[in-house]
Amino acid sequence: MDQNKTPIIDALRLYQKKGITSFDVPGHKRGRRVCDLQKLIGKRTFLMDVNAPVGLDSYSKPHGVIKESMELAAEAYHADNAFFLVNGSSSGVHIMIMTVCYDGDKILLPRNTHKSVTNALIMSGAVPVYIGPEINEEFGIACGVSEAATIRAIDENPDAKVLFLVYPTYYGACSNIKAVIDYAHSKGVIVLVDQAHGAHFSFSSALPKSAAELGADLVVTSTHKTGGSLTQSAMLLHNEGFVKYHSIKKRVLMFHTTSPSYILMASLESSRKLLATEGEEIFSELAWECKKAKKELSKIPGLVVLNPNSNSSATHKYDPTKIVIKVTGLGLDGFDVYDIMFEKYGIQMELAEPTLVLAVIAIGDSKETIHKLVDAFKDLSDTYYGKYEPLVVPQERIRIPPSIMSPRQAFYSEKKAVNIEDAIGEVAAEAVMIYPPGIPLCVPGERITSETIAEICYCKDNCSCMQKDSIEPDKILVVIPDEENDKTDNDNKMNNVINENINVEDD
Ligand SMILES: Cc1ncc(COP(=O)(O)O)c(C=O)c1O
Repeated sequence: MDQNKTPIIDALRLYQKKGITSFDVPGHKRGRRVCDLQKLIGKRTFLMDVNAPVGLDSYSKPHGVIKESMELAAEAYHADNAFFLVNGSSSGVHIMIMTVCYDGDKILLPRNTHKSVTNALIMSGAVPVYIGPEINEEFGIACGVSEAATIRAIDENPDAKVLFLVYPTYYGACSNIKAVIDYAHSKGVIVLVDQAHGAHFSFSSALPKSAAELGADLVVTSTHKTGGSLTQSAMLLHNEGFVKYHSIKKRVLMFHTTSPSYILMASLESSRKLLATEGEEIFSELAWECKKAKKELSKIPGLVVLNPNSNSSATHKYDPTKIVIKVTGLGLDGFDVYDIMFEKYGIQMELAEPTLVLAVIAIGDSKETIHKLVDAFKDLSDTYYGKYEPLVVPQERIRIPPSIMSPRQAFYSEKKAVNIEDAIGEVAAEAVMIYPPGIPLCVPGERITSETIAEICYCKDNCSCMQKDSIEPDKILVVIPDEENDKTDNDNKMNNVINENINVEDD
């Protein structure tokens, strides 16, 4: 296929010229009534914001430009089929798990998955069997799961039908998923891959290969994160074999809006063309610039840069475009540096953790933006290095506490809010995390340990991006044990039991 083709964009261009009078939705009628947003972003965006008019295509029964554009995407990502998504990789994760897992099915997965996975476990009723990721002790982060640990998990759980992998991790670690996929398939296990942070993979020889090219059954990728499409747009990739096309398509349509945005789909198409036709050149240059920047950053006093060569056996390959900088040598934690970068240097980092900050280099970056980052860190070190003692913060953030019930059972159990400090030994009824990265510190159904509480308390006191369901900052939702539940009279229930509709924060 000709990867220079842009069928959706061409159709939109043509449609716009026709001057059709709209009696369909959306109701802004191609921007006929001027509003503040239109003044900000221009009428053209409104002209392109159409639903499924004559001359364009229908998402639920694609036969024209959407079909062709998704076929071009499938080819570019080395998959048999591609589905455009307009609700991020989060919806792709939900779709993947809901396609292959039924209530009570065992799914093997690393503990350091995104909150969308926890939500999919709740919706599907699947029972997680966690594989411990290897930990980089120096940075206090998870590296990925090793090939040996994954194969052991498959062997020890012959009744598990699904393996879920994260590739790459938020910090760029890529485990040897080719070997793992082949082994899983030899045992009849379906492989799902969360490649949210690897939309650029396979488009340059400087980058790891995409999981779809490596043979995974279903892969979700956040094209908006590194591939240059608009926020919310993502792709779900499918390889024929273990998962049938019609069953994945059915779930896609179940979870998808019936009015997907043409602007988001056009942005996926535009990004696919750029990646397929110029990705090699763009990412070879960016990978080279990142390498130089990491060398310079590691010479700056007080900073340590994650060096892929010093990583664990769980890191088979490393995404060169992720820059992970440990900052505690400056006497600051990652959350302090995240704020200083924004306030003093006008730089938005992707995320902070207790020890580090992460810079994501993506298709929109250049030599100049990368230099600006390095210069800011030089100045930061000049200002802070030696001023304070190096900081010691809680380490090793990923543990696997005992699972007492499935996430779904815990989520639908009767719950009460208890003080965080008093929750040790209770069973969590909610996921608590800092977002980003959105990796739960505790998952519903897990026994809450003293280490988990120490981490939650540290994050609560030191960062503003903590997410949990219970609104009260010092409380956490736990499952009411059966005996207590039986004893609780109706009046108490009114006071203690958290109603799903109150006291719960939407995030
Ligand atoms: C590993 C991982 N998976 C999935 C997602 C969800 O992606 P999206 O924001 O596209 O819904 C994220 C978001 O940060 C993520 O980090």
